[in-house]
Amino acid sequence: MSTGMPGYPEVLVYQDLEHLSRAAAQLFFDQAALAIQERGLFFAALNGGSTPVHLFELLARDKSMKIDWKKTQIFWGDERCVPPDDAESNYRQAHELLLEPAKIPNENVHRIKGELETEEAAKEYALVLKRFASPPLDWPRFDLVLLGMGEDGHTASLFPGSPVETQNPTLGVTAHYQNRPADRVTLTPIVFNCARLVLFMAVGENKAVTLEKVLNNGYQPELYPAQRIKPKDGRLIWLLDKAAANNLPERLLTQNEL
Ligand code: 6PG
Repeated sequence: MSTGMPGYPEVLVYQDLEHLSRAAAQLFFDQAALAIQERGLFFAALNGGSTPVHLFELLARDKSMKIDWKKTQIFWGDERCVPPDDAESNYRQAHELLLEPAKIPNENVHRIKGELETEEAAKEYALVLKRFASPPLDWPRFDLVLLGMGEDGHTASLFPGSPVETQNPTLGVTAHYQNRPADRVTLTPIVFNCARLVLFMAVGENKAVTLEKVLNNGYQPELYPAQRIKPKDGRLIWLLDKAAANNLPERLLTQNEL
């Protein structure tokens, strides 16, 4: 059962990554259209990792949805501290798959400077966020935040054991996860939790055990940083494939056509 109330997750399960990515593309488009209609601009924060690759491709190639990219401002929820042309850069992935093919104007793209040292990059990005702030916040109220989840329960670059109650909008961190670059910059829950819509995407059986802990077990935000994401006045949607959702009880799932 899903309440659809602010902060409570709606959990939607799809056959596979293709169907999940199409649903994500539709939500992206709907959120963009609504934001532009209501406020004239759409503020989105992208993620890294492998899960959003197909979504980016769909958004870039789709002819029917016609997202108004000129009115879209693109940010990132986290970045690996590598140069922007590095194969591990979240910016590079989105640039190649989405920003360039969709011809999103450069001035609308606000990357985290991964080529800087972590603390410096975090401070610099806090200033970037401030330039687009939605008062009284010191950062934009994002219309859409895309997030993934690692097998260890991390999200963006908020890793297990990192401070839960930070008041900084950005943090420089050192992480150890798979073979991905360890030095990272991440936005923090105070920013994510002001968003109008947070969209998690997770696929694969290797995520199933942790997902059950995150969505169906007690609140342990030190251990499972994905639990720190609870939009105060926005929607929280998890898009999962069947394999990732395997350990979740039926009552957590929102009615959905596979
Ligand atoms: C990153 C991320 C990270 C990612 C998860 C899931 O920069 O790596 O933003 O939080 O979303 O690690 O990654 P996968 O999609 O590859 O499973």
